[in-house]
Amino acid sequence: MKYQALELQLNDTKVIPTFIEQQLPELAADQVTVKVAYSDINYKDALTLNARSGVLRNYPQIPGIDAAGTVVASKSTAFKVDQKVLITGFDFGISAPGGYAEFITVPADWLVALPEKLTPQEAMWYGTAGFTAALSVRALLKYDFSLDAPLLITGATGGVGGWATAILHQLGYRNLTAVSRNQAATDYLHQLGATMVITPDELADPRHKPLQKQKFSGVVDAVGGDLLAEILPQVSYSGIVALSGNAGGNKLATTTLPFILRGIRLQGIDSVSYPANKRDAVWQQLATDFKPANRELLQYKTIDFNQLPTTLANFLAEKHQGRTLVSI
Ligand SMILES: NC(=O)c1ccc[n+]([C@@H]2O[C@H](COP(=O)([O-])OP(=O)(O)OC[C@H]3O[C@@H](n4cnc5c(N)ncnc54)[C@H](OP(=O)(O)O)[C@@H]3O)[C@@H](O)[C@H]2O)c1
Repeated sequence: MKYQALELQLNDTKVIPTFIEQQLPELAADQVTVKVAYSDINYKDALTLNARSGVLRNYPQIPGIDAAGTVVASKSTAFKVDQKVLITGFDFGISAPGGYAEFITVPADWLVALPEKLTPQEAMWYGTAGFTAALSVRALLKYDFSLDAPLLITGATGGVGGWATAILHQLGYRNLTAVSRNQAATDYLHQLGATMVITPDELADPRHKPLQKQKFSGVVDAVGGDLLAEILPQVSYSGIVALSGNAGGNKLATTTLPFILRGIRLQGIDSVSYPANKRDAVWQQLATDFKPANRELLQYKTIDFNQLPTTLANFLAEKHQGRTLVSI
């Protein structure tokens, strides 16, 4: 059977998205074919259009790091036909074909059974961003902070930061500071659950003192770079920074002092290689106690498959809030 997919082709240094026809392959042992209902656009997906970003090592490639849909063929005992599933991470949409396609054929252990209380559309509303937010929140929860503990979320208008803000609010945390460069987003972030909204400039210390007033017990950082360097000196004794992002760069200029004098921890968050056998538990939380009652406020727009090339191309240049879903 033939199906449509969006392929990225490299012409010199220019990446050209092109719709192509693919043939469903013969299933190998432990492989599953899924009819995709929804995919989404993450920061990393948008970077695949920039050959120099290094996100894709080889072109042509079908990108899309997330997908959700229904199993149509299975050579795995773990998944049966008609079962709803989702997929994020591993090599999906990076060194293996991804979710910007009507059908995907993947190893069974990359798939997660869709929790009963999530639709495929909701799963992609979360996508890798929501999954990463959940991993970040779980890292903070290990610290047993009181509900009044001051927590900071960066990149809060984006997918990871937006979901982290809404999930922490859902869990009852009531001292949440959201960071955004976009002052027009202040009301939106308050509605999501932020008690205070600040700009990155407000975190900057012109003297770059290595130890500053201890302001934040826990941080969900989706930006990294210079902003993280400003934050570390302000983390309270024994505090934690759950770092997932590098939207602000992947270099970190800092000192050891907050670590050796305040015992703070910088915890990396990785959604890509997170163990397959632990993913169900995280998605179950996203379907239940982490699922924000105010989630309708976490903005998303749904585009059609044929709008994907243009939306992807403009994604990083345009100011976007929340999540972008792709109806396949
Ligand atoms: N470790 C992992 O497994 C993992 C998983 C998912 C995502 N990520 C990474 O996490 C980051 C966020 O992903 P996302 O999907 O949430 O992206 P997103 O939706 O584009 O959101 C990123 C947000 O960061 C802020 N931002 C962007 N560039 C910035 C800069 N130079 N300085 C300060 N703030 C900046 C923007 O907020 P304002 O415009 O409001 O300031 C933007 O809304 C990306 O770097 C992504 O690659 C990592």
